[in-house]
Amino acid sequence: MNDTLPTLNWLIEAGADEAIAEQPVNRLTAKASVTPLQAPAPPRPAPARAPVALPAALARAGAAIDMDGDAIGNAQAAATAANSLPELKAALEAFEGCALKRTATNMVFADGVAEGRIMLIGEAPGRDEDRSGKPFVGRAGHLLDKMLASIALDRKTNAYITNVISWRPPDNRDPTPEEAAACLPFLRRHIELAQPKIIILLGAVAARHVVGISDGIMKLRGRWLEYRVGDVMVPLMPTLHPAYLLRQPTHKKLAWHDLQAVRDKMKILGLPEQVAGTGNAG
Ligand code: URA
Repeated sequence: MNDTLPTLNWLIEAGADEAIAEQPVNRLTAKASVTPLQAPAPPRPAPARAPVALPAALARAGAAIDMDGDAIGNAQAAATAANSLPELKAALEAFEGCALKRTATNMVFADGVAEGRIMLIGEAPGRDEDRSGKPFVGRAGHLLDKMLASIALDRKTNAYITNVISWRPPDNRDPTPEEAAACLPFLRRHIELAQPKIIILLGAVAARHVVGISDGIMKLRGRWLEYRVGDVMVPLMPTLHPAYLLRQPTHKKLAWHDLQAVRDKMKILGLPEQVAGTGNAG
């Protein structure tokens, strides 16, 4: 696929407004050709932590939450019993253990093509998603689509998008630990059934709940972590949430950096840009 146009669009979104040379220069790796006037910034520290495997991290996170045991147990049982994505969606629709369901208009399950094996996980539906029943359809969603297009991904072909929380929190507040704990068994099963080869986490809330790390997203982003599915360790890239990027457009270059790492990983893993014969999760 020729992805020059989407890449250009993304660069313009990221604030590039001028071409200064015929050939691109990777300034992240290029050596300075002149003596710098000031000391170069110290290199980015290597990851301090070992890769994170989800179940243990979640168990630690769960231990700190005053959870309704029934809701969690019911969520776990319902999620485990689902053996396909449609079954999981039906199980979530029937689930009454998350209070957010009572104030939401629609449940938001997923959108995209799970067979593309690239799974993105956001935080929770907002107003537009609550109305439409699909994740990331508002302003942040449009930016996300541009970000995906810049690395030859899109939800009609090869990207699969869901959220930690399946119902909109009123006024877009952060989900409470209890709400997240009730939804997490479904998300874990969702990941198992979707069998992603790469997971992209969007924002701090998704990172906190999925990998159980509360470090700021600025610290976490851009480094590969691992998420355990059975015996398989799935590479996981935390990056900045598109809603944050709408507020802080100068940070789009950081997200661009993270997406380049995803594109490189897709090549290494031999993931095709197009996936034939697939439907849309809706
Ligand atoms: N923000 C999210 O995290 N998810 C959505 O679906 C929409 C906005």
